[in-house]
Amino acid sequence: MEPKKLETKRLLLRWYEFTDTDFVIKLLNESSFIKNIGDRGIRNAEDAKKHIQKIYDEQYRRLGFGSFIVETKEPRQPIGICSLLKRDWLGDVDIGFAYLESQFGKGYATEAAKAVVEYVRTELKITRLVGITLVENIPSQRVLEKLGMKFEKMIKFPEFDKEDNLYSINF
Ligand SMILES: CC(C)(COP(=O)(O)OP(=O)(O)OC[C@H]1O[C@@H](n2cnc3c(N)ncnc32)[C@H](O)[C@@H]1OP(=O)(O)O)[C@@H](O)C(=O)NCCC(=O)NCCS
Repeated sequence: MEPKKLETKRLLLRWYEFTDTDFVIKLLNESSFIKNIGDRGIRNAEDAKKHIQKIYDEQYRRLGFGSFIVETKEPRQPIGICSLLKRDWLGDVDIGFAYLESQFGKGYATEAAKAVVEYVRTELKITRLVGITLVENIPSQRVLEKLGMKFEKMIKFPEFDKEDNLYSINF
């Protein structure tokens, strides 16, 4: 299993490592993450290690692909994630993203996600990609639109009552 790396003008994308625990704790507890994605309950190094292990087991090992940690090149530091998930209840692979609030509004989410979409299309040869956002999460919808994705329909997570927006692109 060769870890995957991607590069853009300002960013490096790489698979999670077990040394990412401090960053994972910080990102998953940002109020914007909890509000827009959910509270994953990752509070300490032990929780973060289990979370990373799950990504190895359920994504990298099982599927051969999965979520990336996004780092700036200058300075070299993690600032966010761009995820590729295959949920049990959804036929399609979905793309997601989350950044440290200190890094919002610099175009990083779009720049990283564009590289991931290209990887999905040209290397994984997946012919359809979706993205799911809260109806009120306009920044996330802007990013999905800049990837060429279009609003397709409302969708409901099995565990929630509320409907979310599903965006999609077919290659
Ligand atoms: C969604 C998220 C990744 C976007 O990050 P970002 O740094 O703002 O992303 P970018 O800078 O690449 O682009 C965001 C776009 O949304 C626009 N935008 C930002 N806030 C906005 C707002 N309140 N209303 C309308 N547009 C907004 C920006 O102007 C930009 O578009 P532009 O390049 O055309 O100007 C970031 O807000 C985040 O991590 N949020 C928490 C986690 C999350 O919501 N993830 C998505 C779950 S589906």
